[in-house]
Amino acid sequence: MAKGVVLITGSNGEIGHSLVNQLAAEGRYQVVSLDLTPVPDALRAKCVASYAGNIMDRFLMDQIAAHHEIDAVFHLAALLSTRGERDPELAHQVNVEGTLNLLRVAQQQSARLGRAVKFLFPSSIAVYGLPDLATKAAAGRVKEDEWTVPVTMYGCNKLYCEHLGRYYTHYHRQLGALSSMARLDFRSLRFPGLISADTVPTGGTSDFGPEMLHAAAKGEPYSCFVGENAQIPFMAMPDAVTALTSLLDADQSKLSRVVYNVSGFSVSAKQIAEQVKKAFPKADISYKPDLVREKIVDSWPADVDDSAARSDWGFAPAFDAERAFGEYLVPRIRSRYSK
Ligand code: SER
Repeated sequence: MAKGVVLITGSNGEIGHSLVNQLAAEGRYQVVSLDLTPVPDALRAKCVASYAGNIMDRFLMDQIAAHHEIDAVFHLAALLSTRGERDPELAHQVNVEGTLNLLRVAQQQSARLGRAVKFLFPSSIAVYGLPDLATKAAAGRVKEDEWTVPVTMYGCNKLYCEHLGRYYTHYHRQLGALSSMARLDFRSLRFPGLISADTVPTGGTSDFGPEMLHAAAKGEPYSCFVGENAQIPFMAMPDAVTALTSLLDADQSKLSRVVYNVSGFSVSAKQIAEQVKKAFPKADISYKPDLVREKIVDSWPADVDDSAARSDWGFAPAFDAERAFGEYLVPRIRSRYSK
């Protein structure tokens, strides 16, 4: 049987890089990649086709759908939370209108093929908005349906797109003659801050974690844009990619929700700095909080309750903070920067 086709948007981004590599290594799918900028040759070699273009380009999306029988979409392309605050309307266009365009294509593909195209959507801890630190401390591990009052355009966009996905899966054209056609199968994860050994994120507000580590590994000083007590959950990139592919594989009948929290380990900026200094004792880390960015981090939960993901589809991250730094991040980053 021919292998199924997955379309990955934002394939040049942090998650995209790791996901293309992982899916290519597994060899279960043919990967079609799409990004604003052309993917590097090494990544392109792992794809059956690679497109450079904008997710808001309807013509391009229709062309991709016409060329490939897409079984699943990983829609990763987005403007992150800090970048989004610099240009909120652009963030809305990319994050919401772009997602709508992909949902439209996946829906049409489902109807044409007569089977549900799976649509995997990384949502974010940014959908939460806690009003102050006392409430954050009292809230503890936040559940999916609590405190969904985001304070960033990116958080608003992700929350709304979760609802769009739920709508397309269960209610799209519910009144029309097309109502009996196959609908898409939308599944979403709310990621915490992600840390990868291979890439540094751009435009996010959880970037202080990865930036601190990569700066130390390169021997550069780092001035952290949040105070040392700022705390949110993080996840090592391999766990994030495994979470996405596990949710892709999950039996639909086991899924009690459309959107799931996932978490790795909850740490403050100071605890990240301690891990970094353990590996790189000469690391020069100082704190110069940007009050707005710090406020955004403070509005995100210190941790999330991911019990639904654990019980419904067996989510079980391999990396706590010790293992993430000791067994994945530090050894891999050392070899990367020593080349
Ligand atoms: N990492 C993202 C950001 O900082 C949160 O999903 O915007």
